[in-house]
Parts: sequence; C-alpha cells; structure tokens
Amino acid sequence: MTSNVLVAGVPFSEIPPDTLFDPVRGVINPLIYADPGIYELELERVFGRSWLFICHDSHIPKYGDYFSTYMAEDPVVAVRQRDGTVRVLLNQCRHRGMKVCRSDAGNARAFTCTYHGWAYDLAGNLVSVPMQEMSFPPDFDRGQWGLRQPRVDTYKGLVFATWNADAPSLRDYLGDAAFYLDALVDRGPNGAVAIGGVMKWVIPCNWKFAAEQFASDMYHGDMSHMSAMLGAVKQATGEYERQPAPAEFGRQFSDPNSGHGTGFFVLPESNHPFRALQSGQTVPGFDPAAIYARQQAHSAAHSMMMAQHMTVFPTFSFFAGVNTVRTWHPRGPNEIEVWAFCLADADATPAEREQLRQASLRTFAPSGTWEQDDGENWVEIQRVLRGREARRTMFNAQMGMGRDFGQDAAYPHTVNQAYNEGSARGLYTRWRTLMTTPDERPVQLQGFAHAAG
Ligand code: FES
Ligand code: FE2
Repeated sequence: MTSNVLVAGVPFSEIPPDTLFDPVRGVINPLIYADPGIYELELERVFGRSWLFICHDSHIPKYGDYFSTYMAEDPVVAVRQRDGTVRVLLNQCRHRGMKVCRSDAGNARAFTCTYHGWAYDLAGNLVSVPMQEMSFPPDFDRGQWGLRQPRVDTYKGLVFATWNADAPSLRDYLGDAAFYLDALVDRGPNGAVAIGGVMKWVIPCNWKFAAEQFASDMYHGDMSHMSAMLGAVKQATGEYERQPAPAEFGRQFSDPNSGHGTGFFVLPESNHPFRALQSGQTVPGFDPAAIYARQQAHSAAHSMMMAQHMTVFPTFSFFAGVNTVRTWHPRGPNEIEVWAFCLADADATPAEREQLRQASLRTFAPSGTWEQDDGENWVEIQRVLRGREARRTMFNAQMGMGRDFGQDAAYPHTVNQAYNEGSARGLYTRWRTLMTTPDERPVQLQGFAHAAG
C-alpha cells in the first residue's frame, strides 16, 4: 500500500532517493518537511521500525504505576509489572477502540474501558467483559482480545519500545551513541531520576527540524540564542561580552547507519562553572564545582563535556547542562507535540535539583528563552513551505563537507569540530534508508560496530 503513496503527484517508489536527500551533494528537498504522503510513509517506515522513547524508569517506580504517552501518533501506556519489568500497552480497547486509560499517569490495578466496560489487567490481558455469559458467543475467547503490545527494552533507566519484530536490541540500536547518552544518564554511580512534571506543548513545525537541530546544530547557537547567551554571561561576569568557544574545543558524533547524532564542547576544568551560566541566576547552596568533582570521579571524559545537544533517532532529544529531555511526537507533516521533562543525577543535592528545575524552566520550556528562539525558526520555516516555489527550492546541508577536522580518541567516532552538519546528514541518511526500503524487507542497522558493554 505505502509504496504507492503520492508525493507531489508522483508515486513515492518512482522518486530517486537522491532527490529527497543527497548525502554526496549535501542537499535536502524541502518536500520532506511538508508533504502529507511523505508523512504517511514515515509513520510506516520510520516510526514503525525504530525504537521510540516512552518514559524514564523513575516515572513509574512501583508496581501498578503507569505513564501515558505516544509512539508517533499511537497512544500507549507504560505499566510497571509485579516482577519489576515494564510493559507498554496500545491504549486502544479491543472492542471498539476507545482509550482504556485516559489519565496522564498514576497507579492502577486494571484498565477499564469507559465505553462498554471491557477491563484489562496490568499485563494487558482482557479479564472482564460485561454480559459475556448472557450475550457473547459461547466460544468467545478473552485470551484472543488482549491489548496489543510493542517490544520493550531499557537503557540505564530510559524505556523505549518498538513495533519492529526485526529491530536489533536497544543497546545495538544505540551503538556508539550510547557513550554520549551516558553523559545524561550515567553521570554518577546511581544513575538519574526525573524531577518535576512533564511539560507538553504544540509547535506548528515538522518533527525533523527539531530532531535534526538537536542531533547536529551547534551552528545556530551564536545567532539564534545570542541575546539569551549574553544575558547568562552578564549574570556570571557582569559584562555583556562573550567569546565564542574556540572551534578546536568542539566535537561532533554522527552515524549514517543509525541516524543518531550529538555535538558538544570539551572544556578545561576552569571553564566548568560555565555550566551554571546556561541557567542564569543560581539558587542558594548550588555548587557547580561540586557537580563537576562528582562527575569527574565517575567518568572524566563525560565530566569535560559541555553544552551537549543530542538526538537518538528519530525523536528522542536532550540538551545537557540543564538536562531537558524531550520527545518530538509527530502530529502530521506540519505539527509536533513536545513532551519535555528534566533529569537530575540521582545523587544531586536538593539545591542542585531546584537549580535544574528552575534552569530548565528558564531555558528549555514553553516559557524558556532558548526554547522560543528555536521554535520561532522552525515555525517560520514551516510557514515559508506553504509557498509553491518555496517547496521547490533545495536546502543546503554542506557544512563540514570536504574538511578534515581530525578525530579525538577519547570520544569515539567524533570529529574535532562541533560546527558541522555531519550529524544532520547522518540523520537524513538513516531516514532515507528507512523510507526507501520496501515494507517486505526487514530493516536492520548494517555494519554497525560498537564497543561491548
Ligand atoms: Fe471499550 Fe466498548 S470500546 S468496551
Ligand atoms: Fe537552539
């Protein structure tokens, strides 16, 4: 069915992949951000095949705790089981499709549909059907009508799920990107914990603008975020003067086989109080030097990373320092729902937690200064793409091509330049592979090596 999707009036299967995204020329076709046919195919081939972020372990710590979210457009509920494992249930009653769980989060013993009363246990089994004895066929088998469930896997407290039976394990899916994810979730001996609630808002833009920027785009910071950055510098130094971080301090990781990407700076210890700058004023008792010392004792390489942005393909992103963690739930080609929360080290002091909570609200949240800078760009691009000629005008993604930046052995598969669009090209290469691989063939990560562990 899906290979006959029309894109600008042409069957998708007849479109040469290079005209969607050409990794050799570094050129992107803007149709991929705006075309309804492309979006329908993405639901099948990108979101239907990838590991998608669900929640953090600390959102559902106890037996019966549940957390409602989405896998792309599909509503699902993550539920903590009696044995400590997590199941993810498609939030759709098997009778006529009503949601069986209509609240955001909580603790339950069962999920009872509010339409006709079918009830499911926490493992998704159909356990009660009103009037079954009186009115249903004698051979009606409740065992055939449980809630559908994707595969579930976790990485250091992060719960992911996929509908793809052929997908590799989550650890293999992450590959070498796991090292960079550790900078968020493995900063101390006891891991991380979610603090505060989940903030949710809508941005009228395509999901790939957000995913790509967090994977790859250190470039926009000095332009789009200049006023927020100068405000933070003034807070710390009393001056409205800022020197951009020297290019040689930058690192970028990209992988066209997985689509994951990240970029960051590696700064000397003396610069580490700079972490606090990202958050403006500090709460009493907050000590960035103590955070640095704790992280250095756990992992020296990770403790040196600053201003890290990252996307785990396709829609899980974070910005370290203020530790905002978010999912870009797609809502058609022109809209996303952003779900964001803040992750603290499990060993963080109360002052550190409060600092993180306030800092993420001030920067990366609906009212946050940095968030609004980013969103304004994405929304405006999406508006421009309503234009007929605008949809026919190719985008440039060539930054970093033809340059030999060198590598850094301390940071696997990085180049020594964070101002680079290599991770964007990696993300679109993975997207293109998935989109152009027919449904009949299982899609695997190919030739993707990573360190064991
Ligand atoms: Fe759920 Fe009818 S739709 S019981
Ligand atoms: Fe930004």
